[in-house]
Amino acid sequence: MALTKQLVIDRGMAVLFTEHSMDVVFAYADRMIVLARGRLIAQGKPLEIRDHTEGAGGLFRQRQDLREESGGGGAMSSHELLLEAKALCAWYGAAQILYDVDLDVRRGEVVALMGRNGAGKSTTLKALIGMLAKRRGAVRFLGHDISKSEPHVAAPPRPWASCPRTAASSPTSA
Ligand SMILES: Nc1ncnc2c1ncn2[C@@H]1O[C@H](COP(=O)(O)OP(=O)(O)O)[C@@H](O)[C@H]1O
Ligand SMILES: [Mg+2]
Repeated sequence: MALTKQLVIDRGMAVLFTEHSMDVVFAYADRMIVLARGRLIAQGKPLEIRDHTEGAGGLFRQRQDLREESGGGGAMSSHELLLEAKALCAWYGAAQILYDVDLDVRRGEVVALMGRNGAGKSTTLKALIGMLAKRRGAVRFLGHDISKSEPHVAAPPRPWASCPRTAASSPTSA
């Protein structure tokens, strides 16, 4: 994760990752997005979310968006928008899993997608890159509408082409 963070800083990349260890999140994430039962329930700087809630239990119950209160992700809020999802919904068969999830990731930031098991973290990542048969909502990556794209065409090759071979070849393992 330290290497990943360094790449983000040195090369102006961005990372969206899922993680269960709060220690890792507090150490490396600039911002945290929290899901519960397929809905976004909180987002903001990790330490601010921790301080505004009563520990992990409160974190996953309480709905709040600390970005407006705290001025967004600080310096990051003015950086170029790389990935944006609006009202993202997803289904497995007839079962709706995601409900109107909004998220964005800006150049230069590391964003942790958090939530308990079954909250919808993996489904969110799959919906973003087009790995689900049924999804709805807007997804834009590097300014391109990829909401209808297959996974192999969703990501233009240029951003990953600049990654060294030693870096992880996929953005995340959910
Ligand atoms: N292939 C699937 N078919 C049906 N339901 C699924 C499938 N994968 C995940 N789910 C359900 O979707 C919900 C969200 O799962 P998931 O996105 O994997 O959560 P997380 O990654 O946060 O643990 C859970 O209720 C899970 O049981
Ligand atoms: Mg998962």
